[in-house]
Amino acid sequence: MTDFDVVIRGGHVVIESDLIEHDVGIKDGVVAELCDSIDGGKRILDASGKLVLPGGIDGHCHIAQLSSFGVETADDFTSGSISAACGGTTTIIPFAPQRKGEGLREAVEAYRQKAEGKSVIDYGFNLIVSDPTPTVLEDELPGLVTEGHTAVKIFMTYDAVRLDDRQVLSVLEKARDLGVITMVHAENHDLIMWSIERLLKSEDTAPRFHASAHPPESEREAVYRIIALAEAVGAEILVVHLSTKEAIEEVRRAQVRGVPVLAETCPQYLVLSDADMDRPGFEGAKFVFSPPARSLATQEFIWEGITEGVIQAYHSDHAGYRFNDPEGKKVHGDTAPFNRIPNGVPGLETRLPILFSEGFRKGRIDLRCFVELTATNPARIFGLYPRKGTIMVGSDADIVIWDPEKHVTLSIDALHDNMDYTPYEGMEVEGWPVTTLSRGRLVWHEGAVLGEPGAGRLLSRGKPQTAELRRKTND
Ligand code: URP
Ligand code: ZN
Ligand code: ZN
Repeated sequence: MTDFDVVIRGGHVVIESDLIEHDVGIKDGVVAELCDSIDGGKRILDASGKLVLPGGIDGHCHIAQLSSFGVETADDFTSGSISAACGGTTTIIPFAPQRKGEGLREAVEAYRQKAEGKSVIDYGFNLIVSDPTPTVLEDELPGLVTEGHTAVKIFMTYDAVRLDDRQVLSVLEKARDLGVITMVHAENHDLIMWSIERLLKSEDTAPRFHASAHPPESEREAVYRIIALAEAVGAEILVVHLSTKEAIEEVRRAQVRGVPVLAETCPQYLVLSDADMDRPGFEGAKFVFSPPARSLATQEFIWEGITEGVIQAYHSDHAGYRFNDPEGKKVHGDTAPFNRIPNGVPGLETRLPILFSEGFRKGRIDLRCFVELTATNPARIFGLYPRKGTIMVGSDADIVIWDPEKHVTLSIDALHDNMDYTPYEGMEVEGWPVTTLSRGRLVWHEGAVLGEPGAGRLLSRGKPQTAELRRKTND
């Protein structure tokens, strides 16, 4: 008889699409047995009345990253990974950012050093390509892909990182040849710049004008264009942070045509709105991110994009800049015009509870959809399935026990990131992760952080396995 290291007893376990009352036996960091009843075990975790779900995978988050605004995001790999784990996430895949003029391997190596010995959960790197020289594409990227960094990210806006269409095509073509996915931040740069110029001339500088500078048309045009470029090349893309009805329409149309385009959204587009940027004084700066939150009515279109299967992934886009910090939101002072406020909101820890509560508990999505969006689909997209993103014999024991009835009022005081605010302060959620295991090790349990910095490993990932997701989209 196997002597399990951990047995999770009596919980309702999500196994692929089914919810089954099962015990889970864990040995040497992996799921070793799943059955009605398991005896023994060095440590027993009682999950009766609870849900046992695969740990979340956050495939889009900015940790220890120098932003295009010249300031570093607030979390390092220790605070970021702890915060993620306390919110039910067991894998983070932040970005190794290439600066223009810098080599890609150099960028990855610098980022590897920043991460080393710090994370409490497993992590990977997605590669921001901002300078796709022949050396980068021909000499560096193939080797990095072989080493397991199997997604690149490109930007269509932000001066420091954006690519022109010709450069976009060269990255897409190489990504296609290497069999990796390209994540795309899609907004029309010139429309944004033109809008900013006009707004500043009229002295419309308050944080709320950030929304006016990034109109829905800017997202629709860029989403349409990146789809056309990807289609021309035959490359697979993941359009990140969809925020508008218009962008969803473009993605849906392309998916129906059979173009390999996947889409992501984030919590901020489901529960925040443009009204938040209009809070008094400089408070609105806390809600400045790109693309911006839209109208309350738009939130319903995003939910529809999820339930219709146009959107396959739900990541945080965590990009935390502290509010009362000269290296944060106020880097250009507390009366800075909207275009000089670093873009981004935190969300590593609140990502899953918000979807669980607003989606599952409120009946908008079922538990299967919750697990797909937060774990299984990201695992497929980022080449981690079935090692991660699912609970099956042989998978890493990256498991979260949820109390589906726990009521929590979100507050910065209870979160574990390095921030001084949360955009969700005061929001009530129902359902919370009470235990998080990373490869069978307790990292968060009954209100205590038990994870050890350095225990998380840098993942070497496989190629995306997205055929299954595209088939579902086309059904
Ligand atoms: O406002 C945002 N989203 N900041 C993070 C960088 C990006 O655009 O993804
Ligand atoms: Zn972005
Ligand atoms: Zn981002």
